[in-house]
Amino acid sequence: MFKKPKKFYITTPIYYVNDRPHLGHAYTTIAADVLKRYRVLRSDRVFLLTGTDEHGAKIEAAAEKKGQTPQQLCNENAEIFKETWKGLNVSYDNFIRTTDNRHIKTVKKILEILHKKGFIYKGTYEGLYCRGCEQYKTDSDLIDGKCSEHKIEPELIKEESYLFKLSQFQDELIKKIENNEFEIAPEERKNEALNFLRQGLKDISISRQKVKWGIPLPFDKNFTAYVWVDAFLNYLTGLNWEGNPQKLPEFWPSDLQLMGKDILRVHATIWPALLLSLGIPLPKKIFVHGYFTLNGQKMSKSLGNVIWPDEMVKKFGVDATRYLLLTACHFGQDGDISWEKLTEKYNADLANGVGNLINRVLTLIEKKFDGKIPKSSKSEPDLLIEKINNYDKLLTDLKIDQVLKEIMSICSDLDNRIDKEKIYQADSLILSDALYIFAETIRIWAWLISPFLPETADKIFEQLGLDPKKEKKKKFEDAIKWGGLKPGTKIKKGKPLFPRI
Ligand code: MSP
Repeated sequence: MFKKPKKFYITTPIYYVNDRPHLGHAYTTIAADVLKRYRVLRSDRVFLLTGTDEHGAKIEAAAEKKGQTPQQLCNENAEIFKETWKGLNVSYDNFIRTTDNRHIKTVKKILEILHKKGFIYKGTYEGLYCRGCEQYKTDSDLIDGKCSEHKIEPELIKEESYLFKLSQFQDELIKKIENNEFEIAPEERKNEALNFLRQGLKDISISRQKVKWGIPLPFDKNFTAYVWVDAFLNYLTGLNWEGNPQKLPEFWPSDLQLMGKDILRVHATIWPALLLSLGIPLPKKIFVHGYFTLNGQKMSKSLGNVIWPDEMVKKFGVDATRYLLLTACHFGQDGDISWEKLTEKYNADLANGVGNLINRVLTLIEKKFDGKIPKSSKSEPDLLIEKINNYDKLLTDLKIDQVLKEIMSICSDLDNRIDKEKIYQADSLILSDALYIFAETIRIWAWLISPFLPETADKIFEQLGLDPKKEKKKKFEDAIKWGGLKPGTKIKKGKPLFPRI
């Protein structure tokens, strides 16, 4: 079942710091954290990078509106992003900020190389620019003349510009995406990227004349670098890369880059083209997730239609927030949420489901066996073996919501058994067998759920009379073997894991 340990480099997009983090940001970041924790369980060497995108017109404008300097705004909001990830138990390995001096230095070095190699040339560029996306738009991207994403009219920009020879990479990119050398998933997103590429790529402007809040072009100080070029390089500078294409970080190429659907296009064109022009291997895989809507509508601060991650944590707790977000839609597709739906799911799956089951089992052990894990002569239930096998396959395929469903079904199966077999009325031999199976299944369940709900897993270990610190030193393969829980272990039935709301 287990593959050999390997290195695994996973990235989230770096988020704009014009505002504090919203649920969309939290969703990607939690998913990345879950995948990291799972790889760690498998003893892989993992690096998770996240961070903030701090230059460009959008940040410049947001700072002006708040009466701050852009740097003040960046410092303030980057801190809030870090705090939010801490509050959501995200265990990133580095948090890159594009205003870090090291990042800036490397970006300059790369621009210099590209200029010298002739991939950057001077010209004029004219196009409709959406500041919300920080991207030029074509007519077909607009609905009623407005950006479909930000619902604002893009501004016409015509200026002297430095252009990047993007058009030259079209065929190579199509080939690499088609043959999955540069994999884009899910399949429909791969097709979307290919369709876009087949329409033809134009050279793009990589400089801005009027935006002051950016990295100055090393070969012409009258211009700053286009924020996306600056931003893409974070995936390498976040590994402390100093800009030598011959000396790449150990973790490169990235194994998985997570992002929302709105930023697929740039990640399937400009980003890999930059790497190709530098002779750097492409990321192995991009996975594109969908969008959350709230009560059927786009989440928008101006419409007052938002749920902030910290509000969710306050109401449901960290682990439940992680669970509710990850199960709100199929990973890769859109989903709609509302406070009502979230609360309902919390009560059904967590409070009345897992929480209640564990409470029932521990209460029975307390009452009938003096709080000690009873003996059993039975072996591991086949169903559990099957679920454990699926677990690895589903997580390797990034079926995050499906694997959660599988794990949760272990609990509902146990719950049904208690009632169907009227376990609480059984004679002591049968009861002893059953309760051992239940407690041991719950222990293994805690391991399986641990990448998703790390605090809950620890609490369950404690309730079963185990020391979470010692447990976590075990190898996953060994830990999930049947029989780890020793009869006679004194349980510590604590508070219910998920109080009903
Ligand atoms: N700064 C760029 C990314 C640069 S990466 C080199 C950016 N930042 S962002 O802050 O606007 O958005 C980051 C991510 O949040 C994107 O992946 C985007 O798809 C995601 N989401 C924004 N709104 C979302 C929802 N409503 N639902 C789910 N994810 C969404 O783009």
